[in-house]
Amino acid sequence: MTAQLIPSRRAFPSDDPIFALNAEAQACKAAGASVLNATVGALLDDGGQLVVLATVMDLWRELGALDVAPYAPIAGDPAFLKVLVQRHWPTLASPGAACATPGGSGALGLSLRNFLERGQSVLTTAPFWGPYATLAAENGMGVATAPWPSPGRPLNAEAWHGAIQRLMKAQGRVLVWLNDPCHNPTGRSLSAADRAVLAGLLREAAALGPVTLLLDFAYLDYTREPAAVAAALEDYAALGAEGSVLVGACMSLSKSLTLYGARSGAIAFPWSTDPALQAALTQSCRGTWSNCAKAPQALLLRLAADGKAQAHLAAEHQHWSEVLADRARALDAALAEARLEPVHWQGGFFVTVPSVKPDAACGCLKAEGVFTVPLPEGLRIGLCGMKAADAPRLAQALRRASQSA
Ligand SMILES: Cc1ncc(COP(=O)(O)O)c(C=O)c1O
Repeated sequence: MTAQLIPSRRAFPSDDPIFALNAEAQACKAAGASVLNATVGALLDDGGQLVVLATVMDLWRELGALDVAPYAPIAGDPAFLKVLVQRHWPTLASPGAACATPGGSGALGLSLRNFLERGQSVLTTAPFWGPYATLAAENGMGVATAPWPSPGRPLNAEAWHGAIQRLMKAQGRVLVWLNDPCHNPTGRSLSAADRAVLAGLLREAAALGPVTLLLDFAYLDYTREPAAVAAALEDYAALGAEGSVLVGACMSLSKSLTLYGARSGAIAFPWSTDPALQAALTQSCRGTWSNCAKAPQALLLRLAADGKAQAHLAAEHQHWSEVLADRARALDAALAEARLEPVHWQGGFFVTVPSVKPDAACGCLKAEGVFTVPLPEGLRIGLCGMKAADAPRLAQALRRASQSA
């Protein structure tokens, strides 16, 4: 034990749990086992190769020295922020109060430091993307949850009302992280009715104290229902324009442009022009990472100026959305064959199958060479990393696990 390490930093697992499971799956494969690795968090083609969008790589190769080498402005290039916000809300003329961040993760972390005090909790859905808890812990904060709806069921308004009101009473303020549409890890989105109920609850709470709704947009380009995604964004825009709830978005180039390693994104509050909010965001950037990488910002600007590249990119997104939809369809058919519940995927890279003993079920699956990520509510399956032909093996293994776990 390194004595210099302060006591509160000495007992962490050596690796992120999802990366550790992925490493275990890869080691088994390297040792010659037949492995179905559904832990992967990046989009792979049916041959197991990382999907890298060709349109994006073509633009990347065009970048010149001055697109890459200089510092970007501390809060990010204003033109980049505008274009990124307009990818989500095309009619907005300004990004509002906004700054560039290293991916969506940077945006999430920065929101904690500006909207909550240490010791307080952010509200999100159960289940949620595991690193939310790590981000909160690193900021001396907790995570409170309210349930994500089960397939075909409405949002549990009573549970959400209770959670929001409890936090407002305890903290005098509420920050909600909402990974909708295309939720990780369920692969489903809120319905229009769910969004209306949630907006009502947030509006009600906003009469008692400051309420921030931060939309975590990681997977919007990969969906079976682009029109439904657009309708959801319109609903959130209407709530933001009302002004009682501060509505913002975490936007990332990781999945949307397959630029995971470029670490680029932004946090934006398009309906706020408050200079104090802008100054707080800029201060956080300077005190956390200074400036973000310039190259991905320059790339997005080149994309925005190139209609042909935009059309190619849209076609690539459509193709990979169809691949994911095929995988989800194959999984639902195989689950039905195994007399298990379908997953009802709508968008994103993941789905979750319910399990009463997820750790035990994960262990049973591993014994068969099938790797999934256990969550408190079930097992997360990366549609992004498996092929449709893997679905029967996965479903049959899930069936056996559900019988023995
Ligand atoms: C729900 C969700 N939010 C945010 C992120 C952040 O990704 P990045 O920091 O690479 O933009 C991810 C990545 O997996 C995610 O799944």
